Amino acid sequence: MRFVIHEKTGPYRIKIGDVPGADKIDSNSKLLDYEIHICACGLSQNKPFCDGSHRITRDEEPGKVYVYTENKERVKAGHFYKEQEKV
Ligand code: FES
Repeated sequence: MRFVIHEKTGPYRIKIGDVPGADKIDSNSKLLDYEIHICACGLSQNKPFCDGSHRITRDEEPGKVYVYTENKERVKAGHFYKEQEKV
């Protein structure tokens, strides 16, 4: 089991025109303005792309830990974590 903490509550927005190698695309191409959204909240069901699931993190309070089930239900961290084993 692995716990990964995500602090962002929205995606990384990457403009195609800013990606290395974009200089090879025709400078008149509308593709250069196209933006892709990469999930940074960890909740997308379509990784690496954002699927809008981050919206459920909008009311998170700074400094608090939230845990989401696979069904995207929020549970209290204290009810989720097992007691820590000493290493
Ligand atoms: S940033 Fe994760 S679903 Fe949008």
